[in-house]
Amino acid sequence: ETFDATGLHILPGAIDVHVHFRDPGYTHKEDFESGTVSAAFGGVTTVFDMPNTIPTIADAESLKAKHVIAQSKAHVDYGLYAVIGDDTIDKVPELVEAGIIGFKCYMGNTFGRIPSPSTGAMLEAFEVVAPTGKRISLHAETNSIMERRQQRLTDAGRTDPLAHLASRPAVVAVEAVARAAILAEWTGARIHVLHISSGAELRPLAEAKARGVDITGETCPHYLMLDETDYLRCKGVVRVNPPVREATNHEPLWNGLLDGTIDMIATDHAPHTPEEKTRADIWAVDCGFPGVESQMPLMLTEVAKGRYSVSDYVRWSAVNPAKVWGLYPRKGVIQAGSDADFAFVDLGKTWTLKDEELHSRSKISPWDGREVTGLPVHTMVRGRFVVKDRELVADTKGFGRSVHVIQEMPTPEPKHTDETLAAVVAYRPEAAE
Ligand code: NCD
Ligand code: ZN
Ligand code: ZN
Repeated sequence: ETFDATGLHILPGAIDVHVHFRDPGYTHKEDFESGTVSAAFGGVTTVFDMPNTIPTIADAESLKAKHVIAQSKAHVDYGLYAVIGDDTIDKVPELVEAGIIGFKCYMGNTFGRIPSPSTGAMLEAFEVVAPTGKRISLHAETNSIMERRQQRLTDAGRTDPLAHLASRPAVVAVEAVARAAILAEWTGARIHVLHISSGAELRPLAEAKARGVDITGETCPHYLMLDETDYLRCKGVVRVNPPVREATNHEPLWNGLLDGTIDMIATDHAPHTPEEKTRADIWAVDCGFPGVESQMPLMLTEVAKGRYSVSDYVRWSAVNPAKVWGLYPRKGVIQAGSDADFAFVDLGKTWTLKDEELHSRSKISPWDGREVTGLPVHTMVRGRFVVKDRELVADTKGFGRSVHVIQEMPTPEPKHTDETLAAVVAYRPEAAE
């Protein structure tokens, strides 16, 4: 079988460490099939799925049930998160045993309304998780601050989109990052700060790194590229936790990526229906929007503009996520002997993102109509095409595997499948920069 890779760049498939595929429980928004197809069309070959499903993934029973669902539907590889909260600490051993990528700690309220652990319960959880070596990913927002703000705003009759931003000023996140870093320093737990939305969070993050805390961080395209004017442009559609903030945050966030304070790009892919995104009262609008499919085009557009290099992008999208979660070099690389997770990308292709063309079940996002440069043309997972010439390849449903299973598989021979070999042969180095 042949295919055309002329003029395309081969990038390691992106690893999106933060997606919500909603399965089980909210499959009217997304399921593991639609979510992983969307990922594949975005050049994403591995996703880490969040535990705010129904049921919440908080014990071995719910985790095993989700593994069965994911294994039967996934087109790309995945890891599954489990929650730690007030009453889940004794479940840590069985969760690790049943195969998780890491733990999720909801310090603040967000979609799914998983109760936030007290600082005391967090300390206990960090103590129990630390010896397992598993990383704890934090939704770092402090409830006691934002609940009071939201009450004041609703008392004042505010129902407009900008009230959402006003209810969650950056200090909500800064306080939570600093507190979590202190608990991580005390216990030796590894932590990861999800969806960094403000320049102000970089100080507690950088200070903790300097103290030797094993702390990493991600930001998302919407915090780098959208701002407060987007609440007027697309109203509740842009409502997300933490909120899209003032444009003054963009430069510090870009600089944080470039200087390594922020380790990676994730999307917080959080699909909802149009009805759930367009309610008149901002407090009734579900938070989040799909992003797994648009991340690579959005971020490569900045490569085309000259803001950073392809290798910078690959470090944030694939190399660092693989290293931080112990998957490197089986994932996050292009080399003989790797599992060949590739995105074949046309770096020069300018096109327009359209919500209606998303493969996610959710077809409503703030990116609709945005011009981008960079198109994933083929996507290969462990040596097998999942997307080829922008078409889904037949019989790839159920090919995706949990990374904890992949790590048990024998290391692949230092050769590729015929298709991969063809890719390397067809690749034209002169097309590279
Ligand atoms: C996420 C969701 O919808 O599951 N929503 C969001 O606004 N980011 C939850 C989360 O990541 O906080
Ligand atoms: Zn979150
Ligand atoms: Zn999320």
